[in-house]
Amino acid sequence: MAIENPASPQAPVETTVHPAPALRRERQLATYRRATKVLPGGTNSNFRAWGERTVYVDRGKGGRVWDLDGNEFIDLRMGYGPVILGHADPRVDDAVNERMRRGVSFSLTSEDEIRAMELVTELTFCEMARMTVSGTEATMHAIRVARGFTGRDKIVKFEGQYHGVHDYALISVLPNDVSALGDRENPVRLAWGRGIPRAIVDTVIPVPYNDLATLRHVFEREGEQIAAVLIEPVLGNAQGILPRPGFLAGVRAITREFGALLIFDEVKTGFRFARGGAAEYFEVTPDLATYAKAMGNGYPAAAFGGRRDVMSVLPEHVSHGGTYAGNRVAAAAAVATLTILKETDALETIWRTGEAIQRGLDEVLSRRGVPHVFTGHPAMFGVMFAETMPADYRGWAETDHELYDAVAASMIRRGAMPEPDSREPWFVCEAHAADDSVDRVVEIFGAALDEALGARARGS
Ligand SMILES: Cc1ncc(COP(=O)(O)O)c(C=O)c1O
Repeated sequence: MAIENPASPQAPVETTVHPAPALRRERQLATYRRATKVLPGGTNSNFRAWGERTVYVDRGKGGRVWDLDGNEFIDLRMGYGPVILGHADPRVDDAVNERMRRGVSFSLTSEDEIRAMELVTELTFCEMARMTVSGTEATMHAIRVARGFTGRDKIVKFEGQYHGVHDYALISVLPNDVSALGDRENPVRLAWGRGIPRAIVDTVIPVPYNDLATLRHVFEREGEQIAAVLIEPVLGNAQGILPRPGFLAGVRAITREFGALLIFDEVKTGFRFARGGAAEYFEVTPDLATYAKAMGNGYPAAAFGGRRDVMSVLPEHVSHGGTYAGNRVAAAAAVATLTILKETDALETIWRTGEAIQRGLDEVLSRRGVPHVFTGHPAMFGVMFAETMPADYRGWAETDHELYDAVAASMIRRGAMPEPDSREPWFVCEAHAADDSVDRVVEIFGAALDEALGARARGS
């Protein structure tokens, strides 16, 4: 529900708050002009192309990041999630450095790759797993394995979920205008951008998240053609909207009933929500899962894995390969990172830190009478300005995301960097516990909120 009057009469909005000073941007603006001559949008990813506000990074250390103009930020993006321990963590970097001096790419298998996948199987439900370089490749291969195992072609996915940039799930992802998703009982298959063949779009069935009735309806209509349900256990690209009680178990039951596989996309949640990822956290076991981000502390390590009988369609019957799959750098990073996550209390530290930030934000918001809900998990959470938690991506549009965007923009000017888009959650790393990040983030959030509320009260 949009917030008409966000400040309660008891807690009048502070209108005297000064706007945050402008950031130094000269060098980055010059870099943007240089970059746009050779890179479309001036970056290597559409998601980082923010026009003249595009950030060009110099370095990161722990939970902080510095841009090319020397502005320092508490990093709440952490590279969209992978940097779970902190930037430039010597425990991982030294291990990678030591291993890479032996050569990085052989298209032969190293012991590091085996150890990395042993760790994946020790930590998760997976009995077998294979490495890829990105989350995109992991979900692409998991889909192919599911199709190869079941002999069926169609995939069910949920609106508002992003599974990487291959064609096979780039449907009904993140439209700004949710009416483009069509009727909720019979959603439109909305391709994200041009270039996705119609024949592929026709293999994907989008369903609203948290909607078991529509899912059942889809299976009753065409269940014998559905190879798998591909689901990120939370709506990671809508601030981590949570499954309703029984939703994931319901999806599990429906897939079993109709002989389809269940794939958890744990690219964001894996090794973060729990050592065994969201499957452990929500106590629902899929048939296949994909992992990336947190498994390599920022190095390009990823994997897909699952039940032994399902994964055993490889290598005979289903294609999977990649010159860089299991490369030394990624494998060494995965071994070092997963060993730390397994053997230390890094995750507990991250969860406590996230909870402390949430407590601080809750106090700030409650004092000002702003309705809010926390989504996701303390290690990866969103704060939505709404009375109740939305159930699905369509519900995100009903929240006061304009207020959020204004707060995020002001936070960045004040030295803490969440994603400027209200759909991306905040990511907490282990290093955020090691300095004054928690207090600073809460203080910056409070000042940014006052600025945004003040501007709204003045109608500016
Ligand atoms: C849930 C999910 N799946 C897949 C991907 C794609 O991973 P990558 O960017 O490594 O290709 C992402 C990336 O953000 C993601 O959040």
